[in-house]
Amino acid sequence: MSDNFDLIVIGGGPGGYVCAIRAAQLGLKTACVESRGTLGGTCLNVGCIPSKSLLNLSENYHKAKKNFFNQGIEVSDVRLNVEKMMSNKNKSVQVLTKGVEFLFKKNKVSYLKGKGVIFSPTSVVVYDQGKKTAYNTKNIVIATGSYSSSLPGVKIDEKNIISSTAALSLSSVPKSLVVIGGGYIGLEMGSVWKRLGAEVTVIENLPFITPGMDREVSNEFQKILAKQGIKFKLNSKVLSIKDLGSEVKIEYQSNEKNTPDTILANKTLIAVGRKPYTEGLNLNKIGVKKDEKGRIKVNKKFQTDIKNIYAIGDVIDGPMLAHKAEEEGIAVAELLAGQSGHVNYDVIPGVIYTSPEVAYVGRSEEQLKKDGIKYKIGKFPFLANSRAKVNNETEGFVKILADSKSDRVLGVHIIGPHCGDMIAEMALAMEFGASAEDIARTCHAHPTHTEAIKEAALAVDKRPIHF
Ligand code: NAI
Repeated sequence: MSDNFDLIVIGGGPGGYVCAIRAAQLGLKTACVESRGTLGGTCLNVGCIPSKSLLNLSENYHKAKKNFFNQGIEVSDVRLNVEKMMSNKNKSVQVLTKGVEFLFKKNKVSYLKGKGVIFSPTSVVVYDQGKKTAYNTKNIVIATGSYSSSLPGVKIDEKNIISSTAALSLSSVPKSLVVIGGGYIGLEMGSVWKRLGAEVTVIENLPFITPGMDREVSNEFQKILAKQGIKFKLNSKVLSIKDLGSEVKIEYQSNEKNTPDTILANKTLIAVGRKPYTEGLNLNKIGVKKDEKGRIKVNKKFQTDIKNIYAIGDVIDGPMLAHKAEEEGIAVAELLAGQSGHVNYDVIPGVIYTSPEVAYVGRSEEQLKKDGIKYKIGKFPFLANSRAKVNNETEGFVKILADSKSDRVLGVHIIGPHCGDMIAEMALAMEFGASAEDIARTCHAHPTHTEAIKEAALAVDKRPIHF
C-alpha cells in the first residue's frame, strides 16, 4: 500500500470533484480517482459545458444570419466555420478541466489517474496503463456518473448513429438529423444543428416532450420549437434503425396507428436517457446493492449497504443533473467531517438551454394535483415585459404556483429569455419559504426580465400591473 487516505472519491465529475474539494477544505486527507485523463466528468468534457458553448455559438450565427437585418444591422456574407466553432468549444472545455486540476492542487486533493476498483471497504486499487497501485482509505465515495442509453438492438457507433458525445463534435452540418427522444439532450442538440442548417426531426415516445416538466410549459416549448422549424413525431415508437452507409433508415410507428413509417436521415442522435455507470467497480463482491434500475441504493446520509462506502450523483436516485450531484458531494463531505450536510430535493432547479430557455424549480401543476395540494396560479407573459419587448424576445411566460391557503411558493416554471439565470431567484425564495406576496413586494430593477417574476407573483393575487 502506497498511501493512506481519509477519503477516496471514485470519479472526477461535478459530484466527485466538488466532494473531494469540500472534504479537503474540512481537513480530510482526500484523493480523487479519474480514468478519463481530464477532470470534470461528462459535464465538463462531453456534456453541459461543450453543449452550452455550441448553443451560444450557434445562436449567435443564427441571429447574425436571420435576425440582424430586421434590427438594422446589415452584415453580408455570414459564413459558418464548423471547424473553428468546434475548436472554440474545445478550448473552453480545456480551460475549465485544467481549472479543476488547479483547484485540486490548491486544496491539496491527490489526483489519482486511472480506473478505480474497490478492492475492499477500506482499499481502492487504481489501474493505469498496466500499472496497479493500491491505496488504503477510511471512506469511499462512488461518483462514477452515467452513460447514454440506447434502444434495444441499436448500437451507437458515433458515426451515423450517435450519442450526445459525437453530436458535440460533428465536423460538418448534416443535411438531416433525426433525434430519438424529446428530452434535455435531444432538444438542446437538435436546436444546435437546426440553427446551423440541418433539417431536424424529433421522434418522441410520449404524446408530449420533456416529461416531468409542467405540461403547460412543455406544450408551449414544443410550439416554439416547431415554429423554429424542428419537426416532431410525438407519441411514436422507433421500431428499428438501419445504417445504410451514407444515411440511416429509421422505422417508427405512431402509437395510434398500426402501420409503420420510415424516415431517412444523414445522422440519428439517440437521446433516450442515461444509465448509472457502475461497471467494473466490484460492487457485487463488496456487497454494495443496486435497485431494479441499476442505481446504487443509499440511505439519507448517502451510505450504501457498506457503511463507509457512499454514493452520489447520477449513480443514485434523483435527477441526473450536475448541480444535484454537486450538492450531494458537499453534503457527504460535510457528513464525513461530522457536520450536518443535507440536500433539499424540493428545490433543485432544472434548465434547458434552448432559445428561449426553459427553467423550473419545485412542483408542477400535475404533481400538485397528484399530491392533492390546492394551489393558486400567477402567470405573466414576456410579451408584456418591457425589456423582453425591446430585445425582441417576447416568447414565453412566468408561471408561479402557490399554496392556496398559505400562499407559500410551491413551484415556478418559466419559458423565456434568460430564465436559466432568473430561476436562481426563485430557488432562493423557496429555500427561504417565501410566499408569492413576499416576491410581489420585493423591488425588482426596471427594465429587467425579472420584473416578469414580480408580475407573476402579483398575478397570484390577481393584481398584475402591466397585464
Ligand atoms: P431525458 O430523460 O431528458 O429524455 C429522454 C426522452 O426520450 C424522454 O422524453 C423519453 O420519453 C424519450 N424516450 C425514451 N425512450 C424512447 C424511445 N424508445 N423512442 C422515443 N423516445 C423515447 O434524457 P436525455 O435527453 O437523454 O438526457 C439524459 C440526462 O442528462 C437527463 O437526465 C438530463 O437531466 C441530463 N441532461 C441535462 C441537461 C441540462 O441540465 N440542461 C442537458 C443534457 C442532459
